[in-house]
Amino acid sequence: GAADLGPYRHFMQKEIFEQPRAVGDTLQDIESITPELFGDQAYKIFKQVDSVLVLACGTSYYAGLTAKYWIESIAQVPVSVEIASEYRYRDSVPNPNSLVVTISQSGETADTLAALKHARSLGMQHTLTICNVATSAMVRECALNFITRAGVEIGVASTKAFTTQLTALFMLALSLAQVRGRLSEEAEAQHIKALRHLPTAIGAVLALEPQIIAWAERFAGKENALFLGRGMHYPIALEGALKLKEISYIHAEAYPAGELKHGPLALVTEHMPVVVVAPHDALLEKLKSNMQEVRARGGDLYVFADADSRIASSEGTHVIRMPEHYGMLSPILHTVPLQLLSYHTACARGTDVDKPRNLAKSVTVE
Ligand code: G6P
Repeated sequence: GAADLGPYRHFMQKEIFEQPRAVGDTLQDIESITPELFGDQAYKIFKQVDSVLVLACGTSYYAGLTAKYWIESIAQVPVSVEIASEYRYRDSVPNPNSLVVTISQSGETADTLAALKHARSLGMQHTLTICNVATSAMVRECALNFITRAGVEIGVASTKAFTTQLTALFMLALSLAQVRGRLSEEAEAQHIKALRHLPTAIGAVLALEPQIIAWAERFAGKENALFLGRGMHYPIALEGALKLKEISYIHAEAYPAGELKHGPLALVTEHMPVVVVAPHDALLEKLKSNMQEVRARGGDLYVFADADSRIASSEGTHVIRMPEHYGMLSPILHTVPLQLLSYHTACARGTDVDKPRNLAKSVTVE
């Protein structure tokens, strides 16, 4: 009931603000990385597998896309990520040494469950689920599991489930690296330190809400928006665009910024706001030239940058500065302002935020 909302207007807002707690609970005072985080048999299985196949839908699929960057970079294990409803119906080449990872908030999504069973029917027996519901079908079906501690998520648009999935997937990357001897003790200690600081870091991002509300008021009058990111922030741009579509009904799409010139640049006018996820990383200089391409066509830029990015506000370039640069875990931090932007844009448009039209929280039918 409304009482459960506390000071918040909607469950989605409450769930966005719960993320420091949700991520903290998912980490459970972690002090070191061990495969047992994923189950008793995890060491044996992680040792045996030579690749990862992620199967998921919706927001959970974007968590999988982000994990591909982490796992390939940290553990050097090849990863493919597939939309469950595509994988289950196409002819694929099964690899019995692959670790099949399903990602699901509910653990009941029909396509994801069917894709898992399909993979098993093709001879893939090493299965792991990252799931938010311990009693779900997905957890029962998989040999290994990691239960995210987001708690019950009521808003149809997923928020805290996503950031806790990412947290779990980062630990999976570390764990796969460790059993392969690719995680030094120093690196492990640094990653653990960054993980443990995440709840505080997310809290600092949540404090940007007033600035984001000011942007949302401008977005409310638009019919289209473009989201750009590069590298491991490209899936975060995809998730940002999905959130905006789901709850504000504004048409939004996301592009890896390097693809701008291969199509979407044709859409850029002063009516098309372009959201840019711009952390200070190796791709920043390239991203800056992508941003100039947008400005040259009169497009307005809305940039989430960290202090080191040295992107200043100017005519047509609006900047919200992220409190700190967060290295490999930066995708988790950059998710939060995009959630808030969608949420407040939807509020300004007066939509039914927690129950957007035509969508369901858990899709248990095909
Ligand atoms: C629905 C929900 C999304 C969710 C997707 C996958 O479309 O509205 O928020 O990402 O299903 O759900 P799952 O429970 O498998 O993560």
